[in-house]
Amino acid sequence: MAHRLCPVWVGYFLASPIRRLMQNPERVLAPYVAPGMTVLEVGPGMGFFSIPAARLVGVAGRVVCVDVQQGMLDGLKQRAAAAGVAPRIETRLCEANSLALDDLAGAVDVVLLFYVVHEVPDPEKLFAEVAATLKPSGAVLFSEPSFHVSRESFDHSLALARRCGLAVTATPRIATRRSAILKMA
Ligand SMILES: C[S@@+](CC[C@H](N)C(=O)[O-])C[C@H]1O[C@@H](n2cnc3c(N)ncnc32)[C@H](O)[C@@H]1O
Repeated sequence: MAHRLCPVWVGYFLASPIRRLMQNPERVLAPYVAPGMTVLEVGPGMGFFSIPAARLVGVAGRVVCVDVQQGMLDGLKQRAAAAGVAPRIETRLCEANSLALDDLAGAVDVVLLFYVVHEVPDPEKLFAEVAATLKPSGAVLFSEPSFHVSRESFDHSLALARRCGLAVTATPRIATRRSAILKMA
């Protein structure tokens, strides 16, 4: 599979209210994200999930958003400010093959991986870096668009995640997406 980066202009579309007609981010996140939690989102784009996550963690929580494109993070910061949740969202620019999350080792309750793994050159390294940030009770919400990512490719990603110590605990059925909940085995 080609690892083509989502252009920044598509980021505006992905964060638009039109998408909410097909996916309600609050409803997707609510079973997993609670007040006071630390959430990590890799590849947040312009914040379709990060801003609802920031509302759910409340004033005592935080959402760390790591993206390889500064244009996405700039759009996310603007939207977070408009939504009044900017103080709860920390943005970090990363390298394509390194999230540089050593300071978050064992500190994260929930990791969000929405529509990003198929763009990453080394998904196994990403799963290893993500696993290292999780608390023992932590969970990863992993979701890929079914129009871009075949069942075979998604299963391959799950196999890579397992090699990093992440077990599949659920596979929620959601229209237009392939999704799995991962926890430390
Ligand atoms: C298709 S967009 C999805 C955005 C968002 N998760 C959503 O669902 O609206 C993919 C995002 O992942 C980011 N990305 C791609 N490769 C990455 C990498 N190696 N590390 C971190 N972020 C990456 C892109 O810049 C983009 O913001």
